[in-house]
Amino acid sequence: MIRLGVNVDHAATLRQARYRENPEAFNAEPAPIAFALDAECAGAAGITAHLRADRRHMQDSDLEKLRAQIRTRLNLEMGNTPEILNFALHLKPDAVCLVPENREEVTTEGGLDCAGQIDDLALSVHILKEAGVCVSLFIDPEETQVHAASAIGADFIELHTGAYANALPSSTQASEELQRLEASARLAFSLGLRVNAGHGLNYQNVLPICRLPHLEELNIGHSIVSRALSTGIKQAVKEMLALFPQ
Ligand code: PXP
Repeated sequence: MIRLGVNVDHAATLRQARYRENPEAFNAEPAPIAFALDAECAGAAGITAHLRADRRHMQDSDLEKLRAQIRTRLNLEMGNTPEILNFALHLKPDAVCLVPENREEVTTEGGLDCAGQIDDLALSVHILKEAGVCVSLFIDPEETQVHAASAIGADFIELHTGAYANALPSSTQASEELQRLEASARLAFSLGLRVNAGHGLNYQNVLPICRLPHLEELNIGHSIVSRALSTGIKQAVKEMLALFPQ
């Protein structure tokens, strides 16, 4: 069965909207850790969080709490910078997903240009793997990127599903994006890479993605947290898991 990793960044985004100056205040809410623990209770196989260089949502202390308290797997999304790499080595998440990070973007936009920075990425991947952290590279579904991810020595790729998610449902573009995702998943598997996917997935578009070959895990945040506003996080996670094929 495909595993669901729930991205809890948005709980921190909401807290920061009010408590940016003091996210540790006694009355600061909501707490990402509370979301994460409830998501686990509802069946999430892991918790994902992105520590950005500008700390716009998750704070170092949020990650420390997640590391100490969750009982599933902690997946840290991060840009490949020395500061965040040091943090990851100290935190020791179960997994790291390296993502591109631009200051102006609202959320991660494109995949990593692995092909354009093989040496830099290979060094960080090596350091993380030596520390016992499983490493994934967030890439667009492109042949050159998959080959580069393999050359870099990553354990996993996480296929960027944003272009598929933004295409009109059932359109030619959506089916072309699915084909690209499928071809990349097959190529990755043939090169010994394991396959995750995520970005922009929701209750309407997730099923075709679940059918991708060799898929192990989906990381979903925005849509689950949005639904949780009306249903609560446990119900939102359960409803997403109910869509995954058994
Ligand atoms: N995977 C990666 C690598 C991401 O950067 C994000 C967004 O933080 C997600 C998955 C989750 O995307 P969404 O919030 O659109 O579900």
